[in-house]
Amino acid sequence: MQNNLSSAEVLTESYYDSSDADRFYEQVWGGEDIHIGLYDETDNIPEASRKTVTTMVDNLRSLNVQSRVIDLGAGYGGSARYLAKQSGCNVTCLNISQVQNSRNRVLNQQQGFDKQIEVRHGSFEEIPCPDSSMDIVWSQDSFLHSSQKEKVLSEISRIMVPGGELIFTDPMQADTCPEGVLQPVYDRLNLESMGSFAFYRETLTSLGFEETNVIDLTPQLRNHYDYVRQNLQGRYDELVAIISHEYMDNMIKGLKNWVAAADKSYLAWGILHFTKVS
Ligand SMILES: C[S@@+](CC[C@H](N)C(=O)[O-])C[C@H]1O[C@@H](n2cnc3c(N)ncnc32)[C@H](O)[C@@H]1O
Repeated sequence: MQNNLSSAEVLTESYYDSSDADRFYEQVWGGEDIHIGLYDETDNIPEASRKTVTTMVDNLRSLNVQSRVIDLGAGYGGSARYLAKQSGCNVTCLNISQVQNSRNRVLNQQQGFDKQIEVRHGSFEEIPCPDSSMDIVWSQDSFLHSSQKEKVLSEISRIMVPGGELIFTDPMQADTCPEGVLQPVYDRLNLESMGSFAFYRETLTSLGFEETNVIDLTPQLRNHYDYVRQNLQGRYDELVAIISHEYMDNMIKGLKNWVAAADKSYLAWGILHFTKVS
């Protein structure tokens, strides 16, 4: 892990390492997948979140037992275990949170994936992997935390082989979002900026990627954050035994701000799938 972390990296690491965040993501999101779900067939948060993973896997063309896969911002490793189970491949989980990495390692051991999945502490702004060493780069709802998204994409390009696949999701600002309206959204997670479909398309094209499939699933972002808020508010009296009032009150306020921003069409979300050409 590099020593000179940016202020965004330091804030993110301490946020996800806090016991409040750890318990919130375990209790409310299910402790495997902590990303936006697909709610067409269910309103259950863990089930919908898993549906995002299966939909992304179904989009991959080249995943097989020999694929070298990296999950950037891997959380508790739920997606890595699914990828390893489906294809028999090896997966590297890179994550800036040591607390999540510890839980990830325990879950890998309990579920028999400790030989297939390597969990590494580090930042995707400086990926600790050699050039051209990955066939598939995977990431879910993690790049929003970076204040240097161009650097992240350039690092991804560096570690990928030509012909490799990049597939990711990210909560983004809408291409049509007006200037200066997102501070209440940034405040929930100490964000400095958000990407957009246009930003990812332009930057990845300039780095030698071609668009394989971009699926705009923006309505799911509003569904997801509203379900999470309802769940948290409905279980407030039970959860206050393990999560602080302050964290839950801030989270409820922050989630309402995200839903309000979604209602104003300021936000976007979807599955972005690119192939590295050169
Ligand atoms: C919303 S969680 C998503 C976790 C996981 N991708 C999932 O979908 O279950 C965001 C994740 O990004 C990680 N993260 C944020 N900034 C990072 C960075 N600079 N380098 C590596 N991981 C980072 C966090 O620690 C956290 O695990």
